[in-house]
Amino acid sequence: MPITGRTRLFGILADPIAQVRAPEVFNALFAERGIDAVFVPFHLGSRDLAAAWPAFKAMQNLGGLIATVPHKAACATLCDALEPAGRMIGAVNTIRREPDGRMTATMFDGDGFVAGLRAEGHEPRGKRVLLLGAGGAGSAVAFALAAAGVARLALANRTRGKAERLAAEIRNWFPDAPVVVGDADPTNADIVVNTTSLGMNEGDPLPIAVETIPPAALVAEIIMKPATTPLLAAAEACGNSIHHGRHMLDQQIPLMADFLKI
Ligand SMILES: NC(=O)c1ccc[n+]([C@@H]2O[C@H](COP(=O)([O-])OP(=O)(O)OC[C@H]3O[C@@H](n4cnc5c(N)ncnc54)[C@H](OP(=O)(O)O)[C@@H]3O)[C@@H](O)[C@H]2O)c1
Repeated sequence: MPITGRTRLFGILADPIAQVRAPEVFNALFAERGIDAVFVPFHLGSRDLAAAWPAFKAMQNLGGLIATVPHKAACATLCDALEPAGRMIGAVNTIRREPDGRMTATMFDGDGFVAGLRAEGHEPRGKRVLLLGAGGAGSAVAFALAAAGVARLALANRTRGKAERLAAEIRNWFPDAPVVVGDADPTNADIVVNTTSLGMNEGDPLPIAVETIPPAALVAEIIMKPATTPLLAAAEACGNSIHHGRHMLDQQIPLMADFLKI
């Protein structure tokens, strides 16, 4: 689409920026839907976000922003209104600029993960889940699994205190959530989810002893690069079904587009 005086702007805030996929994905969506809009990368470091924020609010042709590392939590504090998922997690990844300049935001990481499971035929309701990790993405996934009605949500994190705080926050929002904190013990798990960053870098240890995972369990990742992590490769070799990290982002795109009124 040619850029004209009527073209609406969208962008992604990130640091580093080169690896982000959102510009390709959203510009393809605009072309497919014949929408007069353009999606650009904004390379902005943490210490400059607050200074840039008033400019984004003032830009009358800005439709919205996607936020990724390291801006998800900071954007939640800068926005004028948060939808429940953003309030629960204290971080956002999708920000809509309202016509009056207010910024309304939410977090789709968790809903994207659950939608990705469902799109691949894995309904989480009633399942026993072992979730490895309790970082930003892990927290979003944990809240979404609790909301989806899992039968058991066991949290295991290197820093146990973080998993305990996450469990307490989940219970604040979902008092009946069957959430427990423990070791990375997959006995009786129907789904094992890796939300740690282990597997992104060559030479990382596996986040769990794969041979302890029941053969019938689904092993899910949220890491997208590499597409098949050593955990997924090892689980597949053991006969487990596997679920790739890309589904989480793929399923967020339509949710983000709706929220941004694209
Ligand atoms: N597919 C998607 O759409 C999507 C979206 C968002 C993120 N992600 C991916 O999710 C991963 C995590 O991102 P994040 O933003 O949640 O990061 P984060 O907030 O920094 O959390 C990292 C998590 O990994 C754990 N961890 C890191 N190094 C470890 C080690 N050596 N041993 C054991 N545990 C370790 C951390 O444990 P401690 O708490 O003990 O430090 C923490 O639980 C990244 O690979 C990211 O690319 C994917």
